[in-house]
Amino acid sequence: MNRRAAPRAGSSKPLHAVVSAGPTREYVDPVRYLSNESSGRMGFAIAAALARRGVEVTLIAGPVVLATPAGVQRIDVVSAREMHAAVRKAFGKADALIMAAAVADWRPARKLAGKWRKKDGGNTNARLDLTRNPDILASVARSKGERLVMGFALETGDGERRAQSKLRRKNLDCIVLNDESALNATRSSVTILGRDGSRRELARRSKEDIAEVLAEWVIDKVRATSAHRAG
Ligand code: CTP
Repeated sequence: MNRRAAPRAGSSKPLHAVVSAGPTREYVDPVRYLSNESSGRMGFAIAAALARRGVEVTLIAGPVVLATPAGVQRIDVVSAREMHAAVRKAFGKADALIMAAAVADWRPARKLAGKWRKKDGGNTNARLDLTRNPDILASVARSKGERLVMGFALETGDGERRAQSKLRRKNLDCIVLNDESALNATRSSVTILGRDGSRRELARRSKEDIAEVLAEWVIDKVRATSAHRAG
């Protein structure tokens, strides 16, 4: 494997990728939160695979229990809004964004300063007001220019059609479709859908194997774009 920095075509600067991983946590009160089952394994494996190929990687991680891959700069965040700010800042100087995080779509409208007590609800039912979190991927990809953006879609039912529509709606170069069996699992089946019409299925592969393929895909695309610009 090529362990030297992967230069952009026509430039000696190494390629720089931002990878997001893991869940976000949206606090209800100081001790309770809304979150999801994401382990962060896919994003961490992609960060590791890119770094092994000489890519400069900024890994923006939600709360996970994984070790930082060698050679990767890690920024820890908790909430979707913190992740949004960190992704926006890091992507400003990067060539590619791989948005593998499972961002919570909603957050409590208010975070209570003290513990939410039983007596604060009704006898048998209580309500939690929620506010929409920003769609980090869509908002960053809107002004991406020629930089590469890869999104993920966890779908049930007619997943491919939905993923294709997300690819266009969020202005992505590629979307990686998986199903709920991927959550917190070591193996996964994914379909990689490119904006260029490409389609590749990887069935029941380890997340590390999938990460290798995705890392190659990202590097090839970024190099092709910069070669096109240079030539
Ligand atoms: N994403 C994001 N910000 C959000 C929600 C999702 O950046 N607030 C990113 C994820 O990191 C992932 C992709 O968008 O790359 C997933 O998009 P989407 O499927 O729209 O998220 P869901 O919440 O699963 O969508 P829906 O409930 O509409 O199916």
